[in-house]
Amino acid sequence: MLPPEVLLKMAEPIMHHREPEFEKLFAEVREGLKYLFQTKNEVLIFTSSGTGAMEGAVSNILAKGDKALVVRGGKFGERWGEICKAFGIEFIPIDVEWGRAVDPQKIGGALKADPSIRAVYTQASETSTGAKHPVKEIAEIAKRYENTVLVVDAITGIGVFDIPMDQWGIDVLVSGSQKALMLPPGLSFVALSDKAWKLVERSNLPKFYFDFKKELKSAQKNQNSFTPAISLFVGLRESLKLIRREGLEAVFQRHEKLAAATRAAVKALGLELYASNSPSNALTAVKVPEGIQGGKLKNLFFERFGITVAGGQDQAKGKIIRIAHLGYYEGLDMVMVISAMEMLLREMGYKFELGKGVKAAEEVLME
Ligand SMILES: Cc1ncc(COP(=O)(O)O)c(C=O)c1O
Repeated sequence: MLPPEVLLKMAEPIMHHREPEFEKLFAEVREGLKYLFQTKNEVLIFTSSGTGAMEGAVSNILAKGDKALVVRGGKFGERWGEICKAFGIEFIPIDVEWGRAVDPQKIGGALKADPSIRAVYTQASETSTGAKHPVKEIAEIAKRYENTVLVVDAITGIGVFDIPMDQWGIDVLVSGSQKALMLPPGLSFVALSDKAWKLVERSNLPKFYFDFKKELKSAQKNQNSFTPAISLFVGLRESLKLIRREGLEAVFQRHEKLAAATRAAVKALGLELYASNSPSNALTAVKVPEGIQGGKLKNLFFERFGITVAGGQDQAKGKIIRIAHLGYYEGLDMVMVISAMEMLLREMGYKFELGKGVKAAEEVLME
């Protein structure tokens, strides 16, 4: 769901990206992104999906022969490894059972054993499992290593829960437009600490479009290096305004409440959370009960009610459904999705008391 303010602005005639009107917009967006990322440094914007900025966070940070540490707790953790491989970077995986958060001590142990590791790659929120990783604790460990940076994919973290980049000492923070930023897909964002910018200077991996140094120079002139997705920039100015108007703290609290209501409903229905130990406030992954086909349940949400929920990927395929509550959502949206889930589960033969999930959600929302 996207806010109508954003959709309407994006429908306006397209401005030219080398004219003062666009530069003014760019300047506003730069400030808004610094507020959202909680950093004094520049937040670079690329016309690409989130993976583009992830790729840049490998090709601009590392140099030939560097070693990386990769937290693999789901599909997107695996992606860090795949990108490293594509650039010929040797990496040490920290494999985490799907649905679990990484143990920061494992990262501490790996860095102690090999302090030459140049970068630690992780997610803030692993969207494929619904688990939240302990980024603050990981940052505390990584900070102790002068030549190591921490790179965090916060594509479903930024604008959902607090990730104060500068305060925690995160070196590279990545996000994308289509999640809590309440925009269509097509923009990716990345901010770097001073420590990370030093690594950019020595990086000698191939790069062209995702060249951070080139893009920084352009951004400082309120420009993009190449033709940007102008209508998305126009939408971004609006969504950043909405976020600032609501206030970051209130945005985090809203997500906390929506997540808490969804989890309470799931438990009240006798269902289990997939990431029960460390659930992210971005989405709730629910284990599909025994005897129910997960793929069919997911499809019925849309066929019957026009509601989009996601299924599981790879090893979680057919076993979970994922309910998003990040971005342009409020309490009643959650009540609606839970009500739909109850009706579908009842129809598919799962035994429970109808209305129990909705009641539990409402109770949390009214607290
Ligand atoms: C945590 C995380 N990382 C990376 C990605 C990939 O982003 P994109 O599909 O925009 O390239 C996603 C997309 O869902 C994500 O949730």
